[in-house]
Amino acid sequence: METTVAKVNAVTIPRWFDRHLHVRDVDMLRNVLPCTLNQRAIGAVIMGNLKHPDETSTIEKAKGYRWRIRAMLGILQTFGVTTNKDFEPRMTCYLTDEITPEEVVRGFKEGVWCGVKLYMADQRGLGGTTNSGHGVKNLLGRYPVFEAMEREGIPLLGHFEAVEPEVDEFDREIVSVERDLDPLLNSFPGLPVVFEHITDGRAAAFVAEVKHNIQATVTAHHLMINRNEMFRNGMNPVHFCKPVPKREMYRLKVREYVTSGHRRFGAGTDSAPHDESAKMRCYGCAAGIFTAPTAVELYTTVFDEDGALEHLGPFLSENFLGLYGVKVSKETMTIERKPLAVPQKIGNVQVFRGGTELPWTLVG
Ligand code: DOR
Ligand code: ZN
Repeated sequence: METTVAKVNAVTIPRWFDRHLHVRDVDMLRNVLPCTLNQRAIGAVIMGNLKHPDETSTIEKAKGYRWRIRAMLGILQTFGVTTNKDFEPRMTCYLTDEITPEEVVRGFKEGVWCGVKLYMADQRGLGGTTNSGHGVKNLLGRYPVFEAMEREGIPLLGHFEAVEPEVDEFDREIVSVERDLDPLLNSFPGLPVVFEHITDGRAAAFVAEVKHNIQATVTAHHLMINRNEMFRNGMNPVHFCKPVPKREMYRLKVREYVTSGHRRFGAGTDSAPHDESAKMRCYGCAAGIFTAPTAVELYTTVFDEDGALEHLGPFLSENFLGLYGVKVSKETMTIERKPLAVPQKIGNVQVFRGGTELPWTLVG
């Protein structure tokens, strides 16, 4: 006898938490922060690679940035732009070659930051992504910091990509797994590590299988597009981000871990707004995909396509939240099978899948 599975038309899960978000500063902050608030997030890990990228590289600077975000939250609430009253920005320390282990630990203990963001730069100060040139040039030189973090249980949030220009763009992640991450985990077996925006199926297999305490964030766009989407019918800067989307078989591998409900993978949008003018540069187009306005609907679409809606809740709203000092929300949100028109732009920022329809809508 044929079995029929009833089509699920609504999903109710705890309110979610974005484990990796760029909200920028000042005007851009005012423009994009409401998107994540209106997606009912209880909070987000705020990445601080701002225009002056070392702006979150000391306790004082990170506090200043948090103050500006909180002030903006207050303004948006006062003017009724959002009804989200309890959004909590969780700050990160932008790791440089200079900060001392003592300051990293103090910032964590004082509740200024919940983890340390690792970007790597080459010897000339060239980073692999937006505003990462002040990142770490000498990884071994930072081992005393990692030792202190291991001792105190401070999470390392790592952008693992080789930055040297001679490394093939599509292999940068896996090269960094073998060269940087594996030795790091072996030297600091107790260090909690989050592999940020994982894209390569080989890296995902490493995360899923290694014995160490490691998890990975996954963006909605990396679950949805492969590298062809950057070139379909011509160059599409809107689909250019770092790490670059990978070949189809690697995208599918990552997606398989995610939608099969593997607990080491959790939602981190890496929603990264850039003005259209920066995305349209012929040389040096800015890396970043802006998914914040419909992040929940995008992830829901992916899980639905894979017949895995039962794993959506843990992925968005539960997996390894404790690592950031965040509790699973007691409040819920509901996503319904109902078409949603994705806006083309928010201000001057092109939205991922703008102008199309998604099959799901977050209704409250
Ligand atoms: O595509 C990206 N954009 N990847 C990153 O790592 C940084 C981000 C940004 O800040 O624009
Ligand atoms: Zn990022």
